[in-house]
Amino acid sequence: MTQNPDNPSSFLIDNLPPMGIYETLYAFKDTFGRFMGTEGTHPWSQGFPLTTRLEKFNGPELPSSVDVSWEDRFYPKAWGHPLLRDAIVNYYNTHYGSKITPDNVMVCAGGRPGIYAVLAFLKQDIQVRIGNVEWPAYLDILTQTRCDWKTVSMTPENSFHPSNAEYFDRSGLNYKTNLFPVLSNPSNPTGHARAGNELKELMAMAEQSKNGILLDEAYEMFHSPAVSGLQYVKDLDNSNVFLSGACTKGLQCPGIRVGWILASKTNIEKLANFSSFGMGGVSHPSQHYAVKLLEPGRVAQQRKAIEEHYNWQRQRYGEAFEAMGLRVFTGKGGFYHWLQLPEGLNSDDLNRRLYKHGAAILAGRDCDMGRPHSKDPGYVSPYMNMFRFSFGPLLPETFEDDIQLMREVLEEYKADVAQGVA
Ligand SMILES: Cc1ncc(COP(=O)(O)O)c(C=O)c1O
Repeated sequence: MTQNPDNPSSFLIDNLPPMGIYETLYAFKDTFGRFMGTEGTHPWSQGFPLTTRLEKFNGPELPSSVDVSWEDRFYPKAWGHPLLRDAIVNYYNTHYGSKITPDNVMVCAGGRPGIYAVLAFLKQDIQVRIGNVEWPAYLDILTQTRCDWKTVSMTPENSFHPSNAEYFDRSGLNYKTNLFPVLSNPSNPTGHARAGNELKELMAMAEQSKNGILLDEAYEMFHSPAVSGLQYVKDLDNSNVFLSGACTKGLQCPGIRVGWILASKTNIEKLANFSSFGMGGVSHPSQHYAVKLLEPGRVAQQRKAIEEHYNWQRQRYGEAFEAMGLRVFTGKGGFYHWLQLPEGLNSDDLNRRLYKHGAAILAGRDCDMGRPHSKDPGYVSPYMNMFRFSFGPLLPETFEDDIQLMREVLEEYKADVAQGVA
């Protein structure tokens, strides 16, 4: 919802717009008359995965119920249900060779509340470093938590993949400043991922004194193989490394609102203290559901199905986009394509044309971490010709229709630009 500037009685701060993605959703509804995601729409702008079984790649069934006992009606523990903390510990220690304990785990109501809390409680003299292209919500969170942040250059020239060292570059800084990169890995929106030696180097840098990191691993399973920085952390308890995970993407359950932060015991204790007065813990039925999702045999099957299904979709959509004249800058992970329009075209105009057909993409400008938080007509984003296409929620059988629609709209747009009538 946009705010009503004529309402002088609002006690809430004025600078509280919704995340950029929502602006697209409201504009879409105004044109198409229906909400994005409802029948007959093409949810290419949406950041959710399929929430049904991945049949083609033998994905496991999704649990359809959970038992709720009298104990579940108690208040939850601030740091999370013991069964879920154990399940999370077991998951990471099995798949990433780590040795974390439940004291390293804080359960949150989805990925965002954990990320928000970490950034809200950063001390002074900490500078956040963030790629110039990142998940739109970070800009809102960094603004509202009054963080000091500086962007790291991401352009076609560096393939939208800056080096690790750029996130920790201290030139021009005073001694007192500590550095705290925030990265989604694999990235939303670019799909670029740091894995293997590159991820090892990143975590080693993050563990050095005066450094830390918030590595957001919402898309951990969308890579071959699945990837977590925890694999390379040497001494989590004596670090300022924060890893964020959730049931939202790889476990296909955005609606249960379960996520977590992994960090040193000291940092987890602080987050749990926050939960005691600011969150009140997380729904027990949701946490029980998450325990079922993480059941060892099931989750191994899930990881395989996610990897195979989304690798397949990434590849065939990528090839089709290239064939229609888009430049594909996508990395090897995630469930988005990061695309560049031909010369003279921009993603706002593309979107206006797509709305009429029940489709929408996310304009590159919304992922620009250097943009003003509230709209400023004087600011022109360097990403006006870039956009994010999501294949997260798309069923295998919509591929041909999706590609045909995009091709037709693009051809028409190109022709109009060529004739000077766009
Ligand atoms: C980069 C990234 N981090 C975290 C999340 C987690 O979001 P949620 O709060 O829905 O779990 C998302 C979801 O869109 C995301 O794209």
